[in-house]
Amino acid sequence: MNRSEEFMELEHRYGAHNYHPLPVVLAKGEGAFVWDVEGKKYFDFLSAYSAVNQGHCHPKIVKALCDQAQTLTLTSRAFYNDCLGPYEKYITEYFGYDKVLPMNTGAEADETALKLVRRWGYKVKGIPENEAIIICCEGNFHGRTITIISMSTDPDSYGQYGPFTPGFVKIPYNDTKALQEVLEKHGDKVAGFLLEPIQGEAGVFLPDEGYLKTCFDLCKKHNVLFVADEVQTGLARTGKLLACDHEGVRPDIVILGKALSGGVIPVSAVLADDEIMLTIGPGEHGSTFGGFCLAGKVAVAALEVIKEEKLAEKSEYLGKIFRDEMNKVKSDMIELVRGKGLLNAIVIRPKNGKVAWDVCMKMRDMGVLAKPTHGHIIRFAPPLVISEKDLREAIEIIKEAILSFE
Ligand SMILES: Cc1ncc(COP(=O)(O)O)c(C=O)c1O
Repeated sequence: MNRSEEFMELEHRYGAHNYHPLPVVLAKGEGAFVWDVEGKKYFDFLSAYSAVNQGHCHPKIVKALCDQAQTLTLTSRAFYNDCLGPYEKYITEYFGYDKVLPMNTGAEADETALKLVRRWGYKVKGIPENEAIIICCEGNFHGRTITIISMSTDPDSYGQYGPFTPGFVKIPYNDTKALQEVLEKHGDKVAGFLLEPIQGEAGVFLPDEGYLKTCFDLCKKHNVLFVADEVQTGLARTGKLLACDHEGVRPDIVILGKALSGGVIPVSAVLADDEIMLTIGPGEHGSTFGGFCLAGKVAVAALEVIKEEKLAEKSEYLGKIFRDEMNKVKSDMIELVRGKGLLNAIVIRPKNGKVAWDVCMKMRDMGVLAKPTHGHIIRFAPPLVISEKDLREAIEIIKEAILSFE
């Protein structure tokens, strides 16, 4: 057994089998690159599901973490601390909202948003208690809690985890008519509409242009909150600070996670204005670590890096190169290339029994790491700090890997 096999065996033997990783054991990361335990270097084209937008071990973010880790890490919210307030001021001004509610994981932030929507539905909109409806989309991915999987239409996510949380109506994604119908039928009981501006886990599904704006306008017409889960699409990943910015839509509630810490520690957040946020009072929601000292310092650094290094602009520019180049590849294994900014996917048509997993294994052997989602789709989402030269080098490897199956 080599060292990689030893580590994989340990995970297999002692860890729950709730993931199916690509067989590569990573030990180091820097910028757009990672190295395995044998010292082999790879382009990272997953970025920990878009958590590492700022690149692995970004020195500014790591410094913020280390400095604060030697000073004060956690106070809980039983007391005030000197990190949280400045962070809250910074992030709310950064995104233009009255308030932030800090949490840790994306799923927790989604749960928080769902609670806020229901609270607002009862306290502000006047929906009779326990009758609030939240509309969500088929094919969504918002996380793994019981309530969140109650919205899921993926049997892998929800199968044999019932009974489920009631109060959700699922409509097809990218279907404004379906939204209109539900709103016209149940509008007085609908508190919010939750969606991903681009469905990431579903395989980077882009809605038609104008979808977000039409949905937003429908929500406004029916006094319903428009809630954007930007956990994967936000923070410059799609070429704008938020994916909703592409259509000039300002969501009533924004959910952030992943790259809010640059992939250093779990930091998530929900942004909203006072009318919504102040429906939750002391003792009515929270988390021991939510908004802890390390999170505050790290998140400010991570957000600063996005602006200082113009990551949204880079993502937009490099994303076009990626799609243009991949569209030139003459392989009938490539069914479709789609994406926005540096959140892209290639739909793989199986050939001679070879599927997306085989392509990923070939790319791994050649030094590029990416992972299939839903069997036949490969997501390509490198850290946004990748240089154009490195991106072009990686593109050549990806092309060669795909063409090796011809
Ligand atoms: C859109 C979206 N929301 C929520 C989540 C859940 O985030 P976490 O895994 O941090 O709970 C994810 C994770 O992939 C996601 O893509």
